[in-house]
Amino acid sequence: MEFNAPAGTNLFDRAKIVGHSTPRIDGPLKTTGTAPYAYERHDVAPDQAYGYIVGSAIAKGRIVSMDVADARAAPGVIAVVAAPDYAPVGQGQGNIAPLFGGGEIAHYHQAIACVVAETFEQARAASSLIRTRYDRAPGMFDLAEAAPGASLAKGRGGKPDLKTLGNFEAAFAAAPVKLDAKYTTPDESHAMMEPHATIAAWKGDQLTLWTSNQMIDWAKSSMAEILGIKPENVRVDSPFIGGGFGGKLFIRSDAVMAALAAKATGRPVKIALQRPLVANNTTHRHATIQRLRIGAERDGRITAIAHENWSGNIGGEKGEDGTLQTPKLYAGANRLTANYVAALDLPEGNAMRAPGEAAGHLALEVAMDELAERLGMDPIELRIRNEPETVPGNPGKKFSQRNLVRCLRQGADLFGWSHRRSKPGQVRDGRWLVGMGVAAGYRGGPVQKSGARVHMGNDGQITVETDMTDIGTGSYTIIAQTAAETMGVSLDRVTVKLGDSRFPASAGSGGQWGAASSTAGAYAACVSLRRAIGAKLGFDADTATFAEGKIHLSNRTIALSDAGPMTAEDSITFGEFKRDYDVGTYAAHFCEVAVEAYTGECRVRRMLAVCDAGRILNPLSARSQVIGGMVMAAGAALMEELAVDKRFGFFVNHDLAGYEVPVHADIPHQEVVFLDTQDPVSSPLKAKGVGELGICGPGAAVANALYNATGVRVRNYPITLDKYL
Ligand code: MOS
Repeated sequence: MEFNAPAGTNLFDRAKIVGHSTPRIDGPLKTTGTAPYAYERHDVAPDQAYGYIVGSAIAKGRIVSMDVADARAAPGVIAVVAAPDYAPVGQGQGNIAPLFGGGEIAHYHQAIACVVAETFEQARAASSLIRTRYDRAPGMFDLAEAAPGASLAKGRGGKPDLKTLGNFEAAFAAAPVKLDAKYTTPDESHAMMEPHATIAAWKGDQLTLWTSNQMIDWAKSSMAEILGIKPENVRVDSPFIGGGFGGKLFIRSDAVMAALAAKATGRPVKIALQRPLVANNTTHRHATIQRLRIGAERDGRITAIAHENWSGNIGGEKGEDGTLQTPKLYAGANRLTANYVAALDLPEGNAMRAPGEAAGHLALEVAMDELAERLGMDPIELRIRNEPETVPGNPGKKFSQRNLVRCLRQGADLFGWSHRRSKPGQVRDGRWLVGMGVAAGYRGGPVQKSGARVHMGNDGQITVETDMTDIGTGSYTIIAQTAAETMGVSLDRVTVKLGDSRFPASAGSGGQWGAASSTAGAYAACVSLRRAIGAKLGFDADTATFAEGKIHLSNRTIALSDAGPMTAEDSITFGEFKRDYDVGTYAAHFCEVAVEAYTGECRVRRMLAVCDAGRILNPLSARSQVIGGMVMAAGAALMEELAVDKRFGFFVNHDLAGYEVPVHADIPHQEVVFLDTQDPVSSPLKAKGVGELGICGPGAAVANALYNATGVRVRNYPITLDKYL
C-alpha cells in the first residue's frame, strides 16, 4: 500500500484501542526474567560452545605475530579463531572500522581473536594465553588537537556539509546583541543493559543467528555480504532486546565472530561481548566541539545564526553532527551551519539515540538561554518570537505540524515558570540554591517502508508477523493495538511475532521511525486481509465495519471467523507528496535543580516535557520513551562521559561502575504531557515517534536550570561540580 493521501484514514479517529494506554504485552515476560535474550537461548541449538573475544591491546598499528598454541592446548578449548588467518570483514555495512580479520588495527579492542571452548570460563582463561606482538603506530586521540585539521563532512550527495543562507557574517557584525560561545560534549556510551550477544549455528550452508539487533533486514544482508553467502541463507532472530540506543543498528563483532567460530568448529557458538568491549569494541556517541554565534535585534528577533560543529572518527568518516536541528528550530534570514569531521583513532563513533541532535541541543539550547539573558528577555518569549512559519531556507516546504509554541506555553503554565527569577543565584531553599531552566526540542519524524504478514485462524485469532524489533520501546504492543483496531477484534485476540528475518522486512528500530512505520505496515497488511475476506465472502471491505469480532454490512452481520483461515501480506510505502513537508516532532522541556551552596552537589528536582509528536499510539509506552530520553539527557548534562586515555587511545571507564549513568536516586519527579495532535502527513495512523525526541532538549534544560541556580555558566559537558564550584 502506498500512503499518498495527506488526509490519511479516519479509521483511527474513533479508535478504541489505538491511542489508549495499554500495558506492554512483553512486560510480564521481561519483569519475570522469562523473556529469552540472545545469550540465554539454550534451546535453539544443541551442543553450544562458548566464544570469548580478545580485543587489540593497541589502538593503531599492526599485528606482527600471534601465538595461539598455548591457548589452543588449554583445557576445554575447541578452536582459536585468529585475525591474521582471515581477510578483513565488516567494514562499510554501517560500520566504519573492520569488525575482524587481517593484521591492521584501526582501534583499541578491535577483535583480533576468539577462543572457543566448552565453557565460558575455559574460553576466558585460554584467551589470556594468546601472545600477540604488535607494531604500534602513533595515533590521534584528542579531538581538541585534531579539530583544526578537520574537513567538512560529506552531506547529501557527497557535497560538503556547509549550508548558508543570506550573509551571516555581515548580519552578525551588524547585530546589536550578539552571542559567540563554544560548547563541548564528551564521548558517550550507549551503556545498554544487555551487551551485544549472538548464538550462531550452521546447517549446511544455512546460517542462523540468534542475536540482539535493532535492524533485522540490515543484519541479514550485512552478514551475507561479510560471509560471501546469499542473504536467503542467513536467518536472523531477535525477538527480545535489552536496549540498543543505536548501538545495535549494525552487526558487530559478536555476530561476525560467532558465525566464523561456528563455521570453524562445526558447533553452535555463543558470544556475549564482555562489558569493557561494549565501550571500546563497539560504537559510541562522538565527542563534539560546537561554536554558536547568534545575532539578534534588541526585540529578540534573530538576524544571524551560525552553528559549527567538530567531531572526530576513524579515517575522518561520519561524525556527530550537532547542527542538525539548527536549520529547523528558529527563524533568521542569515544562517550558516557547518559540520567538520577530524580523523581520530579512538574506537568508532556512530549512531546513538538522536545522533547529532542530542548533542546539538546541549549547545544550541544553552546558547538561546545565554542570548535571552543578554537581551534581558524571558527565554520562552525569545523562542516564541523566533518561531518560523516556513522551514528556514526552504520556503517551498511546509511544516506538516508544528506546535512548539503551544508546548512552551502549556509547559510554562504546568511547571510554574512564572515563579522563576530571571536573575541567577536568587532563590534559596536552606542550603540549596534553586533554579529553573527551559529548552526547546526538535527531532525529525521520518518513516520508512515497512512490511507485515497477518494471519487469521479458524477461530478468528489474529497473528501479525514482521521483522520489526522491540528494543524495550513497546513495538509488540502498538502493533497489536493497530491490528486489533483494524481487524475489529479485542487486543487479547492478537498475537504479535517480531524480530525474525523469516517475517516480512520492516522499518526496524532506528531514527525514531519504528513506531509510525511498523504500525503503518501492520495496518497495510490488515487492510489487505480485510479486502481478501471481502473478496471471499462477497462484500466491499473498505465500506464494511469490522468491530467486536464481526463484520457489519449494511444488510447483515458476519462473524469474522466465518472467513476461515486466511493470510495477507503487505507493506507500507510513502508517496512523493511527503517531499513538500517537513515532518518533525517538538517538545518543550523544563527542569528545576537544586545546588548545595557549600558542596556544589546538584540534584535535579523536577522535569517536565510537553511533546507534540502526532497521534500517540500508546500514551503509557510513549511516556516511558520520553522519560527514558529525559533520564539519558540528564545523564548527558551532569555525569556521562567516556574518559579518553589520550596516550593509548581508549576509553578508560569501560564498565558500568566507571561510566556513570543516572540511577533512581538521581532522577526525581518527571512528567510528560502529549498534545496528541494528529499529523495527517506522517502515516495512515497520523502518528510519529518520540523515542529520540525525548533526549533532545532536556539536557539543556538541566544546564540552564543549573545556571539559573548558581550564576555559573559551564559550557563543557558533563557539568560536574568541579567545573562550577
Ligand atoms: Mo537510533 S541512534 O537510529 O537507534
